[in-house]
Amino acid sequence: MSRVAIVTGGTRGIGRAICEQLKADGFTIIANYAGNDDAAQHCEETTGVRCYKWDVGDHQATLAGCAKVAEEFGPVDVVVNNAGITRDGTLHKMTYDDWHDVMRINLGGCFNMSKACFPGMRERGWGRIVNIGSINGQAGQYGQVNYAAAKSGIHGFTKALAQEGAKSGVTVNAIAPGYIDTDMVAAVPDNVLEKIVAKIPVGRLGQANEIARGVSFLCSEEAGFVTGSTMSINGGQHMY
Ligand code: CAA
Repeated sequence: MSRVAIVTGGTRGIGRAICEQLKADGFTIIANYAGNDDAAQHCEETTGVRCYKWDVGDHQATLAGCAKVAEEFGPVDVVVNNAGITRDGTLHKMTYDDWHDVMRINLGGCFNMSKACFPGMRERGWGRIVNIGSINGQAGQYGQVNYAAAKSGIHGFTKALAQEGAKSGVTVNAIAPGYIDTDMVAAVPDNVLEKIVAKIPVGRLGQANEIARGVSFLCSEEAGFVTGSTMSINGGQHMY
């Protein structure tokens, strides 16, 4: 029987590419999403991946959502914490809600999903958690104190949980994408994005499937000795 994997924020962008890659790798994939029903329906129709709606920033909703997935498909062995939002703005303009929403969803989502799925992985002696961080959590980014703090937190969270899972066959790793050609990056003003792309040594935005390939490796049997690591996939923009 194939292993069950949940990809949060899995119906669009990087998350969708991860779903497609892990499906091709032989996993049973469940894509979680929070709001966009049309995108979820399109994802189900075009990939055959089942989509389940809950807010990963909501602790109880996440516990209930993961329990439902386990009941229908079996124990969850792989979690990819990909769901994330931006609420960009310089600190003097950023509201408390902009701060709190990003922390609650981007970082809180990793905690909530791990609380739901990590104990079972530990008991069964096998698991893979991959957290999607960001170059902006490593290097900081003008106008992103909320996002940079949450993503930086994800990198710390990864290293701490990796230590707790190591003896039980549960690996916990992060990927730090650079600027990838997705709706999120398309929302950056053109004049700002041009300057960012000019600083990417390979001279282009990344593609979502280039992140998915990294996730695929970290979820494989062969990656059992890789834990607590961060794989930077950023076209050379930040060598860390
Ligand atoms: N460093 C220093 N100064 C900067 C700067 C930078 N990187 N970027 C802008 N500034 C300066 C501008 O030059 C300008 O200065 P002047 O007024 O003296 O000319 C001042 O800051 C105001 O800039 P804006 O006009 O851009 O200010 P704004 O309030 O309209 O917008 C912003 C601010 C929303 C942060 C906008 O700059 C922006 O969207 N920046 C992009 C942020 C970004 O990269 N987000 C990534 C989203 S994708 C993602 O996060 C995925 C991932 O993981 C990589």
